[in-house]
Amino acid sequence: MEMFLIAPIAYLIGSIPSGLILGKLFWNTDLRKFGSKNIGATNAYRTLGIYPAIIIFAADFVKGILGVLLGIYFLNTPIAMIIGGIAVIIGHNWSLFLRFSGGKGVATGLGVIAILMPIVTLAIFIVWVLIVVFTKYVSLASIVAAGLVPILAYFWIGQIEYIIFSALAAGFVIYRHKSNIIRLLKGTEVKIKAGNK
Ligand code: G3P
Repeated sequence: MEMFLIAPIAYLIGSIPSGLILGKLFWNTDLRKFGSKNIGATNAYRTLGIYPAIIIFAADFVKGILGVLLGIYFLNTPIAMIIGGIAVIIGHNWSLFLRFSGGKGVATGLGVIAILMPIVTLAIFIVWVLIVVFTKYVSLASIVAAGLVPILAYFWIGQIEYIIFSALAAGFVIYRHKSNIIRLLKGTEVKIKAGNK
């Protein structure tokens, strides 16, 4: 029975559009109308600056943690944690409250893997930071970091359920970066810089 509660509850938690709610509530800003139009921390940084970005990142990251904690709470098995993790990412990317639109799953996905695979998380976070510092393309950093997760899971974790989860999660994150990929290929992706609308 509990098994069937994890995914819907995690999906609902993931669906809460933190960036949209916090942006409207505290900065009177609908992030969907500015910059990349995304509701995530990167666009919050671009539109509102560093502190809103940190707060929105933290809120989305915590959603990811909560998804996995649900699996621990109900069944405490790796599969249950993975189901909670994948469902919370799906909720974030295809939110019930945003007509199945949503974010790109980077901060939420990071929260999920921070619990499931801490060493992999640390490694991809370092790669992400290096790519952002050297290229100033956050999207490129996120795409490469996401793509690395299943590869590192394969070599460092080696358990089939973690590898399948990682491949799915990376696929969901990269798929939501479609527009960024097109801009990167065209050379029109915008380099990151703090903004004030
Ligand atoms: O985490 C999202 C980031 O990879 C891209 O964000 O706003 O540049 O599309 P954005």
